[in-house]
Amino acid sequence: MKARIIGTGSYAPEKVVTNSDLEKFLDTTDEWIVTRTGIKQRHVAADNEATSDLATRAAQNALEMAGVDPAELDLIVMGSVTGDFPFPACACLVQKNLAAKKAVAFDLSAACSGFIFGLSTADQYHKTGRVKKSLVIGAEIMTRTVNWDDRSTCVLFGDGAGAVVMETMEGERGILSTHLHTDGSRWELLYQAGFGSRTPPSHAGIDEGAYFIKMAGNEVFKVAVCSLTDVAIEALEANGVTREEVALIIPHQANQRILDATGKRLKVPPEKIFSNVASYANTSAASIPIALDEAHRSGQIKEGDLVVLNAFGSGFTSGAALIRW
Ligand code: UT7
Repeated sequence: MKARIIGTGSYAPEKVVTNSDLEKFLDTTDEWIVTRTGIKQRHVAADNEATSDLATRAAQNALEMAGVDPAELDLIVMGSVTGDFPFPACACLVQKNLAAKKAVAFDLSAACSGFIFGLSTADQYHKTGRVKKSLVIGAEIMTRTVNWDDRSTCVLFGDGAGAVVMETMEGERGILSTHLHTDGSRWELLYQAGFGSRTPPSHAGIDEGAYFIKMAGNEVFKVAVCSLTDVAIEALEANGVTREEVALIIPHQANQRILDATGKRLKVPPEKIFSNVASYANTSAASIPIALDEAHRSGQIKEGDLVVLNAFGSGFTSGAALIRW
């Protein structure tokens, strides 16, 4: 018995902010952003949109493709670091929006690896027989965590949501294995103080810009490439699968240079490394399920294909899933 993905869905807010739009208020250029990151535009949530709204839309798309009624869901796991509130969990709000009354719903905080951590968690419930149908979501409004005066971070991120519906099924198709890692020793290289217990809200903190994302870009870059490569290789080796047998690798969409370097280290041709970072920028936990939905709906993944999903994020966290589609 395996957890099989039977539906994918995604949603990106209507508003698009291009690099040229950023040039109007930021000391940056389209040329710098495209050369260093491959990003051309990002979607930005409307003022009245919160993360649960994006997540609900993506979930509805995935449920529709799967032909599953929300009332049939046993479990909703959501990867996000930008939920509507510190509590309740964003997954609770999505459960209410969907009227998925039977489903246990909770959030996971693993930053950009959030979707893979969620997929792995749901997979364990499927394997033990506790769950028959699950919904795994990655959803973020990253543009509310960045300082729009800080050109080294604000140009990198975007908003969106992606989701998959899984069902326990017999046969060869489904999630073959998942692999997760954490290295908390270098958390300070990428974090958001937010209004956490170490940095409670204060007027001074707001004036100092203390609550925004902070990142040591160069160092994060190197860790990202190594982690994305290592965890993908681990997934292949665990299943005795060669790189040549893999149809598509869908890494976390952070930066085109990271995707290119990961492909090179993996010795995989560029056409096998999925990329849509130009259109969405880095949507954190939403990036892999948005990419997976796009690859699936455009016919880039076919039944029986071997697909690798690999993620890296603040923490540091990393994770991979090998799927027989
Ligand atoms: O999910 C994981 C999330 N994290 C990431 O994906 C980040 C990984 N890191 C990166 O992608 C890259 O390190 C960045 C894209 C963030 C930066 O690229 P870089 O090639 O490492 O540039 P840099 O930080 O070394 O900065 C080079 C120059 C600096 O100017 P000086 O000191 O050489 O005069 C920056 O001030 O580029 C400047 N710069 C910019 N210039 C124009 C930084 N941001 C910008 C900008 N526009 N937006």
